[in-house]
Amino acid sequence: MGPFPTMSASTMNIGTTANGSTKGSNGSVETVRDVICGASKYNAIPLWPQMVKYNPPQPNPKCVPDIWRYDEVRPYLVRAGDLVKEKDAERRVLMLGPYTTDTLYAGLQLVMPNEIAPAHRHTAFAVRFVIEGRGGFTAVHGQRIQMNAGDVILTPTWNWHDHGKDGSGPMIWLDALDLPLFQFFPVHFVEHFKEKRYPAVDADTSQSPIVFPWAKMRRELDNVNGDWVTREYRKADGSYVSKTINPSAERIAPQTFTASRRETTSCVYHVIAGAGESKIGERVLNWKKGDTFCIPSWYKYQHTAGHQETVYLYRFDDKPMIEALGFYVYEDSDGIIHREA
Ligand SMILES: [Fe+2]
Repeated sequence: MGPFPTMSASTMNIGTTANGSTKGSNGSVETVRDVICGASKYNAIPLWPQMVKYNPPQPNPKCVPDIWRYDEVRPYLVRAGDLVKEKDAERRVLMLGPYTTDTLYAGLQLVMPNEIAPAHRHTAFAVRFVIEGRGGFTAVHGQRIQMNAGDVILTPTWNWHDHGKDGSGPMIWLDALDLPLFQFFPVHFVEHFKEKRYPAVDADTSQSPIVFPWAKMRRELDNVNGDWVTREYRKADGSYVSKTINPSAERIAPQTFTASRRETTSCVYHVIAGAGESKIGERVLNWKKGDTFCIPSWYKYQHTAGHQETVYLYRFDDKPMIEALGFYVYEDSDGIIHREA
C-alpha cells in the first residue's frame, strides 16, 4: 500500500532529484533518473528495467525437484507419535516442504490408536492417500470412512472433518492440499467444531463420491494394455474431483521408461509399489515404495521402472486450476509446445 498523493500532477512540487538538487514548483524533469525518483515518491515504479523479472522467457518455479524417502522420514513421524501428545497437535503432520511445489502442499500425517484429530473445516481442499495402518478413519461431513492402504479420500472445501483410529499401530497417510495458493489469495481460514467429533455414520465406501478404493483403481490400470498407463480420479460425471487438485495413478511395467515431457503444471508423486528412478531436469532421483517426490512446473521429467516389479505411482497435480486460469501449456517429447484450451 503506497502513500496517497496530496497534490495533483499538474500542481505537484517535483521535489529533490537524485543528484540532490531541489526543484521549484515549476521544476522540469530532465533525466530518466528524475522520472524514476519522482515517480517513486508516488509509489509508481518503472517496469522497463525489470522487464525480464516480470515477463520471464521460461516459467520460473521457486520450488526444486526433491524427494522424501519414507525410510528416512517415517521414524521421525512415528517418534512424534510418542513425544507430541494429542492435545498438543491439532494435526500431527510432517510437512514436505512446507510447500512441496509452488502451488501444492504435501504432508505426512500420523494418528495413533484411540486418538482423535478434532473436527474442523476450512477453505482449503484436501486429498488423502492412505499409506499404512489399519483401523483408521476419517469422518467427512457426517460420513465416517474407513482408511485402507492405497485409498484416496477427498475432503472438500468447508466440510467438517476429524480423524481417528482404533486398534494398534500407527495410521499414516499423505495429505495433499492447495495451501500455497493462500499466499496470493488470503482467504483461507479454519473453523473449529464445538465437539471433538462431528456427528457421523459409517459410509459405504463402495458408493461414496469422495472415496476411491485402491483395488478399483488398480483394476482399471491393469485392464488397459500398455507398458505405461495413467488414470485420473474423476467424479462420476467425468469432471475433476476438485477445482484445484487433480489426483491420478500410473502403472509402469518393469524396465519401461515413460515419455519425457514438461508442463506448466507441478505435481507430487508417491510410490505405491515397485522401485525405479525419475530424471527431473538434471537431477536423477531413485525411489521405492513409500517415497514421495515433487516435480516443479516446466521441469522436463521421465520415469524409469526398475527391473524387478511393476511400478504403481500415485500422483496429484494442480491441473484443474492451471487449466481454469488458461495457463496450461506442455512440451511433448519432440520439443513442440502445445496449449490446451
Ligand atoms: Fe483439515
